[in-house]
Order: sequence, then structure tokens, then C-alpha cells
Amino acid sequence: MPRLNSAADLQKLRQEILARSNGNRVVSVTNGTDGRTRGSQGVIQAFTEEIEKQGLKGKVDVKSTGCHGFCEKEPIALILPEGICYVGVEAEDVPEIVSQTLVNGKTVERLLYEDPSTGQKITKESEIPFYKHQSQIVLGNNRRIDMESINDYIALGGYGALAKALSGMTPEQVVGEVKKANLRGRGGGGFPAGTKWETTRDAPDDVKYVIVNADEGDPGAYMDRSLLEGNPHSVLEGLIIGAYAIGAHQGFIYVRAEYPLAVENLYVALEQARDYGLLGTNILNSGFDFDVKVHRGAGAFVSGESSALMTAIEGKVGEPRPKYIRTAVKGVWDRPSNLNNVETWATVPLIIGKGADWFKGIGTEGSKGTKIFSLVGKVNNTGLVEVPMGTTLREVIFDIGGGIPDGKKFKAVQTGGPSGGVIPEKFLDLPIDFDELSKVGSMMGSGGMIVMDEDTCMVDTARYFLNFLADESCGKCVPCREGIRQMLDILTRITEGKGEKADIELLEDVAMMVKNFALCALGTSAPNPVLSTLQYFRDEYLAHIEEKRCPAYVCKPLVSYYIDPAKCQACMLCLRNCPVEAISGGKNQIHVIDQEKCTKCNTCFEVCPPRFNAVRRLSGEPVPPPVKDRTLVRGKS
Ligand SMILES: Cc1cc2nc3c(=O)[nH]c(=O)nc-3n(C[C@H](O)[C@H](O)[C@H](O)COP(=O)(O)O)c2cc1C
Repeated sequence: MPRLNSAADLQKLRQEILARSNGNRVVSVTNGTDGRTRGSQGVIQAFTEEIEKQGLKGKVDVKSTGCHGFCEKEPIALILPEGICYVGVEAEDVPEIVSQTLVNGKTVERLLYEDPSTGQKITKESEIPFYKHQSQIVLGNNRRIDMESINDYIALGGYGALAKALSGMTPEQVVGEVKKANLRGRGGGGFPAGTKWETTRDAPDDVKYVIVNADEGDPGAYMDRSLLEGNPHSVLEGLIIGAYAIGAHQGFIYVRAEYPLAVENLYVALEQARDYGLLGTNILNSGFDFDVKVHRGAGAFVSGESSALMTAIEGKVGEPRPKYIRTAVKGVWDRPSNLNNVETWATVPLIIGKGADWFKGIGTEGSKGTKIFSLVGKVNNTGLVEVPMGTTLREVIFDIGGGIPDGKKFKAVQTGGPSGGVIPEKFLDLPIDFDELSKVGSMMGSGGMIVMDEDTCMVDTARYFLNFLADESCGKCVPCREGIRQMLDILTRITEGKGEKADIELLEDVAMMVKNFALCALGTSAPNPVLSTLQYFRDEYLAHIEEKRCPAYVCKPLVSYYIDPAKCQACMLCLRNCPVEAISGGKNQIHVIDQEKCTKCNTCFEVCPPRFNAVRRLSGEPVPPPVKDRTLVRGKS
């Protein structure tokens, strides 16, 4: 690879790459972690072989790309430039795609996305509702870049922002542009990146560090992984620009070891950047030196917290420390250290390349740009969703997510990861931004969005998140270690039907104590799931405590299953499907559930035909005694 010595060299290389690609068509196959679990490697191999076999070699390029967002439909094969999108592709489908679409220009109907609400097949990716309402300015290039190709990144203008900064902007101007853009950190707190950069820049020390936080510990969140796997150079370019602005010559990427493909692609990207002279000494002949080390984290949630992460980089146990002096001033080895999230860094080249004014044109007054969410839970379309700040929850959940499956009712959405809050239906039209989410008792966090339907118990939901946080508390400070455990004990008691009225007040007291006195934000934010469910779903707590009833039929100790003798038609379905043989009965005998044996797995309720509707779930009421005469009289209802 030739070393690039100037912005002009970079531009020349770009022209050469574009000329070499010769306007070829592209088959972009999602081959990130999600795709690989569903056979995407085989799909790519099949495309490569079939394209050669059918005489298209040199005319069609196959790209192994990161996630495009609609992960649940992977492997996806996107044909560019037309934008034809095939979902759930298997290696066996490839010969037909090549002959029909690439050779004959026809679509393969059966592999197109089918809109479940209309039954209509949709050819173009941009017309699929999941994508149609998104604005993928950060994630979007994943589909155009082979995950191991720096040239693909450069062809799209990659490293142009770095060249612009190094050749035409002072470090202060770069900081000024990021401040003007009002870029707020995408990893949790939403702190203004430019202000943090300036603090580190102004800190009196010759040695400074810049760090990428790729710990991504929130369960269900994987936007950072998808960026690192699919477009690692965007993160790297942002980091180099930041290092130049701040005056750092050493960077770290702290990435969890459970992301092997992201780590692998990062190493490839670093090597390529070094070969082109985009890392190392005298980058683009600017006199600026900078290089990066990858630090693999051992996967503790708390290690994502800034001081814990920096302690881990020093080679110690990743536990938080008091931040009387901020890490931006005294971080790794007590040197000024600027930490930003993966998505924050990946946004920087866009701001420098297109300008702060362009960026400020997207989003709300207080939150500019877009945010990537991982939309999961009880929603029809799950995946990564990038929307402008200010998009409403309703647009994300219903227009993009396609609403709630099985005709069920929306109940709530939990945003901000395990320590975020639960937001009820009345706030569906809330514009999503940092401040609006805080106002309703939740937070942006790193972008987790878990949708819940009517079958979700809110007390159990709070218990679930507190259980995670109790496990992940490092135990260093008493309020967090003991307080979360206490809240968990109370919640468990309530879900087991052993709650008392005073428990609600006790929960609130402990929650406020943890919120006010924990050492780090793991503790101070841990009460959010409890406080928000208490705020919006207090009646469910009361039902559990006062009536020993779980309205959603989730808390097993409070739920029983019973077969209504007046409705049972002895069809044997529940009996045959019961995994623990708790149901007795015969072809002409009313079925009965043995309450001692029943594990409350819900199978009998699910398999009982709706026309009989004989299996009932009971909560807060006793199970009637079995009928004495179990002989079935057919036809009754
Ligand atoms: C318990 C805990 C875990 C965190 N985990 C992450 C994480 O995985 N990724 C991340 O970017 N930020 C995480 N944060 C937030 C970081 O401490 C820090 O605020 C962030 O990396 C700064 O980058 P940003 O300003 O670009 O968001 C975590 C915070 C806490 C308290």
C-alpha cells in the first residue's frame, strides 16, 4: 500500500479506487455476528462461485458487510445500485438470484420482504417500512463497505474529514466545530463532547489520551458492535481527529472480548490505516503523530463506567473510583483522558466533513443529530434503528417497528439499558431526545429500547433489571452493593405474593438512598426501573401486595391454571402437551390439572383451542375444587 502524504494523495487514491470499481454492481451481504449465526458465510461463498460460473466476474462485486439494521431478516443480500433487497437468503437461493436478477434483471419474488400488514412484497430496501422512516447517517455506510476494506471507506469519502482537519484547521478550530455542533455523547450521559474535549485539551500535561468506549454492556444493545464490525474506519477516523484536536498521541479502544469479530476487524483496520500512514508518525505530512492500542475488556458491565474503564486499561480490576477530579483531567495513569462512545466517535468525521451547521440541522434544540437504537422486545420488527433526535416513540415502535405482535396492546417501553426507566403508553408521542427522556424518568443511555406488551408484569420487569444490576454491582460502595440487593429482595418478595403495604415506601426510601449516595452511575441510576414502574404502574404493585394478584399472569407464585369443566371438550390437546404430565383425563373425561404438579408453564393455556377456551388463568382467587363427576357431556359450553 502506498503511504499517503497529503490530502491530495488521499483524493488521488480515491479516484483510482472509484475508477477500478468501474461502476460495478454490488451484492452486499450482511456478514456480521448476526448474519454468521444464520449462514451468511456460505451465502457469500455461493455468490462468489456463482458469479464466476455465470460469467459475471469483474462485473459484479460481492461485499461482506456489517449489519444494515434489520438483523432479524439476515442474511440479507442487497443488490446495488438498484437497492433490491432479499431477506433470509440461504446459499441454495444464490444461483437463482444470480441468474434471475444479476443476469436477467428480474426479481426473485419469494425472497423479497413481505409487509405483514398488507401482504405486499416489497422490492426496494428504501421502501421497506423498517428502513423507510429511518435516517441512517452513521450506520448507513455499513451496506456499502466491505468490512475489511479501507478502500471502500475511502471511496465513500472516508478519511476526507481527517485530511480536512489536518491540512486546514487548527486543533482549536476542530474543538470549536464539535462544540458548535453540540454533539452529545451517545454512550450514556449525553455530555457535550466538545466541552469534554476542551477540558482535556486545556489540562496542563504533555501526555494525553483519547479512548473509545466499546464495552457495550447493556443487555440487548449491539449498535456499537455493528459499527465496529461493519465500519471500523469511521470510528478510527473520529478518534484520530479527536486526538489531533485534544493533543493526544496515544489512543485506546476498550472493546469487550465477547466481540471477537469487532476485535478482528479493528485489528485489520488499524493495520490498514498504519500502512497508508493514517496512523503513526507525521500523519498526512502534518507533523502530527498518533497510534492506537486495542484493550480487550473482560465483560463486566461496570467496566464501561469511565473511571472503571480507565483503571482496567491500567491493568487493574475495572472498578470505579471517586471522581473528585474528572477523568478528562486525571484519567489513565493520572493523565488527562478523553473517553467517548463508539457512536460518538463515528459521528465526528461527519461533523468535520460536512460542518457543524449541517449537523445542527438534524434533531431537536437540545439534542442534535441522529441516534441509533436497538429496538427489541414485543415489537414486530426488531433491529438497529437510526432516527433523527426528536422522532417520537410512536414513530419508532409503530412506523419502523411495525407495532406489537399478535394483535396485543402496547404497554410500555424501557429505554436506556438496564438502569433506564419504563415509559407508559401516554408518552408514546414523546419526541426522543436526551432531555425529554429524562423528564419522564427514563434516559437515553446508549440506545436500548425494549418494547413491552400487555402480557408484561411491571413489578417483575423491575425485579429483572435489578437482578442484573445486583449481579453487576462491583460491590465497592455500600449504597450500591447493599441497596440494590435490598430493592431486589423486596421486589422478589412482592412477586412471590409475600409483599406488604409498607414495602412500597421502603422501596422508595432505599431507591432514593442508592440514587443519592452510590459512588458511580451504576448505582445512582439503578433505582430508575423501580421508581418509574412505581410512578406509572403503582396499581400493579398494589394488586400484587393487597390482592396477591399478578394482572399480567407472569408471577408464577400468584398464578394458577384451571380447566373449566363446563367448557372442556376432552380434546386431549392440553393433556398431550403438558410437559410434566400434570393433566389427567380421557377421551370422554373432563380434564383436570394437578395443582401440585403444575409448573405454570402456560402451555395448556396456549394449546387450548380458542373455540373451547376451557383453560383459565387465575390470579388473586382460589382454584375451584375438581368436579366429582368427570364424565363429558358433549356439546355443552
Ligand atoms: C455502569 C456503567 C456502564 C457504562 N457502560 C458504557 C458502555 O458500555 N459504553 C459507553 O459508551 N458508555 C458507557 N457508560 C458511560 C461512560 O461512563 C461514559 O459516560 C461514556 O463512555 C462517555 O462517552 P460519551 O460522552 O461519548 O457518551 C457506562 C456508565 C456506567 C455508569
